[in-house]
Formats: sequence, structure tokens, C-alpha cells
Amino acid sequence: MSDKVTINQIRRMKKEGRKIAALTAYDLLFGLFLDEAEIDLVLVGDSVGMVFSGYESTVPVTLDEIIYHSKAVRRAVKRAFLVADLPFMSYQISPEEALRSSGRLMKECGAEAVKLEGGSEYAETVRRLVAAGIPVMGHLGMMPQSVNQLGGYKIQGKDAAAAEKIVEDAKSLEQAGAFAIVLEKIPAGLAGRITRTLTIPTIGIGAGAETDGQILVTHDMLGLFEKFQPKFVRRYANLADSIKSAVKSYVADVKAGQFPSEEESF
Ligand code: KIV
Repeated sequence: MSDKVTINQIRRMKKEGRKIAALTAYDLLFGLFLDEAEIDLVLVGDSVGMVFSGYESTVPVTLDEIIYHSKAVRRAVKRAFLVADLPFMSYQISPEEALRSSGRLMKECGAEAVKLEGGSEYAETVRRLVAAGIPVMGHLGMMPQSVNQLGGYKIQGKDAAAAEKIVEDAKSLEQAGAFAIVLEKIPAGLAGRITRTLTIPTIGIGAGAETDGQILVTHDMLGLFEKFQPKFVRRYANLADSIKSAVKSYVADVKAGQFPSEEESF
């Protein structure tokens, strides 16, 4: 296995034109799988609320839930750079609240960075976190924690004014000290423009191919989460089908008295 990925390597990858591959994990097993497959960055995303806990959005996710999942992932991930999401209302209230929440993610879970959604309105918060030694990843474009404000999971930055606001927000996060920015569900051309404007890496999800890296929700790309499939997700496996078929075979074997066999008995 190659060397531990650090924040410096993530920064260097942009400079050297090497793409950053990132995925989400919420538990030990997926942490192990991703780390063994040499992913660069693992995010304990608040998407856990939708694909693990069954919430309708990421809004109900609590800091304690992210802490619980981050601890499990940390026990597995030894090589990749580990980022934990700041969930809704764990950082919006004040920079002090953001420091307190981020401090817990770093101290209790061993997160190497935190991620927060929002632009220039959080520049001061980002500055305070970075000054305290907490690396921050920004998140712009479609920000799922603001789904109620946005009126759905719609593509963002489509008109000139909205695009300009995202570019300015990205610059503001960079100036505040963010080490990278997730760009979610924005036009590919806009993501390319932001990527060329910034010196810090951009990591896209539904933002085209011109970003410095890509991230997907692991449960989506493995075909585990079937409730909906965003257009930007490429399915690399169909694990839900494999699991259902394996369980069906087990049920059939048990019902038919074909499991366990003599070799599987004592
Ligand atoms: O919560 C999450 O998983 C995310 C990624 C999709 C970027 O924010």
C-alpha cells in the first residue's frame, strides 16, 4: 500500500495535474474496502442520514451521529485522508459553535479535516477553524442541507448571476483558508472556470469532468441505494441485486432443509 495521503498531497495533486478520487464511508467495512482500493480521500458525509438512516434529507443528521460513524470509519482508514462532515446546525449558529463541533470531530474521531456547506457568509468561520489548526473543505453549488431553501435538489449556478455568486463564494473560501472545495450539481463549464480560478483543488459531484477530483456517495456508485439515482452517478456495481439474490438463495436453502449441510455442522 502506498504512503498515507496528507493535506499536502491533496494540495500537490492539483499542482501536478493528478486527479483526486474521493468516496463516502460510514462504517468499518466500507472504510476498509475504500482504503484497500487506495482511494485518496474518504468523507464521512451527512449523506449517511439518507442512505444509512433512512431520513428524507440530510437535515435531521446530528453531530453525535457523524461522530459515531466517523469513529467506525477511522478504525478502518489508515491511508486515505479522512474528512468528516459538519451536519446541519453544528456550525451555522456561530464560529464558536463551529469550533466546538469541529473540535469534537478531530479529537473524538480522528478526522483530519471537516467539511461545511456555504460560501462567503462562512468565511469568518473558516478563518477561525483554520487558525485553530482545523483544515476545512468547502461545499458549494447544490448544498443538500439547504434543500428546504433551494426547493429541491436542483442544479445550481445556471444563470449568470447565480454562477458569479458561486465563483465569488469559492474565492472567498479559498482566501479564508479552505484547502479544497466540493462543487455539487453545477454546470461543467462553471466548475471548470472555478477550478482554473482557484489554487486549491475542486472536487466535483455532478459538476462535470473539469474539476481536480471527483466524489460520489459510495452506496450510489455500488448500486446499493435504489431509492433514486441522480443522473451524475455512474453505477460500478449492482450490489443490491447481488445481496437480494444471495438472501433469496439462503431463504430457499433454509426452507428446503438444505442449509446447513453435514460439513457445516458439528
Ligand atoms: O454528504 C455527502 O456525502 C457529501 C458528498 C456527496 C459530497 O456531501
